[in-house]
This record gives sequence, structure tokens and C-alpha cells, in this order.
Amino acid sequence: MKLVIASNNAKKRAEIAAILTHPGLEPVPAAETRFVDVVEDGLTFAENARKKAEAFAMANGMPALADDSGLCVEALNGAPGVYSSRYAGEHASDEDNYRKLLAEMRSISDRRASFVCALHLAFPDGCPPLTACGRVDGEILAQPCGHQGFGYDPVFFCPELDKPFALATPEEKASVSHRGRALRQLLNILQAYV
Ligand code: IMP
Repeated sequence: MKLVIASNNAKKRAEIAAILTHPGLEPVPAAETRFVDVVEDGLTFAENARKKAEAFAMANGMPALADDSGLCVEALNGAPGVYSSRYAGEHASDEDNYRKLLAEMRSISDRRASFVCALHLAFPDGCPPLTACGRVDGEILAQPCGHQGFGYDPVFFCPELDKPFALATPEEKASVSHRGRALRQLLNILQAYV
């Protein structure tokens, strides 16, 4: 089954494509994908994932898989949450965002945080969608560390790997990440389809 990865974030698309290695699934290369700018104004990850998947499925005329994800920090009541990509402003870089988070948390000792991922696979022909979600718990570091990955990876310490995500290989990160967990759940459901 051909499908488009409904994301304008190249690093996120690469992570998804690396995990979606099922012989029955053929992610459409970015160069052949019609990209859509979707206003992510949902109040939940699931709502935003649905919006992106439906828009890409319609624009490309084929199934579309969207991931909406973010970082939820306990001491900040779940922020930045659905605003993770624009925490420091509409056009903020990853570094702007994690520097703002480090500044907000300078005097906070409770460093618990989780990455959350909602997946939505939409079909252009009205077939019911498939959904999945995943989560990984960790802690916010005091200083950034490492250069792998993207987003908040340099400030997220993952106890399951005993290292920051930005020091993990892509395979190590995928083995425990919110995205890896959600995608493996979706692949299990998809076995029946492909
Ligand atoms: P989205 O593209 O609207 O889902 O935004 C997701 C944002 O959440 C990204 O821009 C990152 O800031 C953050 N995020 C999501 N997943 C990850 C991850 O695996 N590592 C680091 N940051 C992430």
C-alpha cells in the first residue's frame, strides 16, 4: 500500500520512514508528495494528527499518515504540549524552543516530562481511519547535550536508554520513543490491511 507521510518536518518524516519498514507499505518519497500547510489549531495531539492526515490524503489522493507529537512537562502543567513546535514563537527554531524551556525550568527541581505521539492514518475514499499513540517518560536536563535527532532531543534525558535522546542512535531512539511505540502499534493494526 502506497502512503504519504503527512508532515512538513523532514527529520520527523525520516524517523517515521525508518520505522515503517513493512514489506506491504511503500512511503511515497518527499519529492513526489504534495505538501499542505495545515493550521494546527486542535487542542489535542489526536485532533491535529487527524487534520494533517485528512488534508494530505485529500491533496494526494492516497492514504496519509500524520504524527502530531510534543513534549509535556509535569511542572508546567503539560506545556509546551501541542504548542511544542512554536513554544518560543511562530517561527522559532528547535534551539529557540528548548532554550526557552530551559529558562522556564531554571529554578524548578521537578524535571519529569514525557514525549507523546498521536498517529492518524486517513484514507481518501472514506474508509475508517486507523489511530495509535505512544509515550516515553524522561527528565529535562539542565543543559543541552548531543546533536542527534531534532526538537527537544538535546534536553530530554531518557532513563530507558540512560542517555539524552540527542546522544542516542536513530535505532536506539526508535526502540523506546513515543513515535516508535505508536508506529509499532499502528503496524500491528495494519497487518490486517496489507
Ligand atoms: P508537530 O510537527 O506539530 O507534531 O510538532 C512536533 C514538535 O514537538 C516538534 O517540532 C518538536 O519540537 C517536538 N517533538 C516531537 N517529537 C519529538 C522528538 O522525537 N524529539 C524532540 N522533539 C520532538
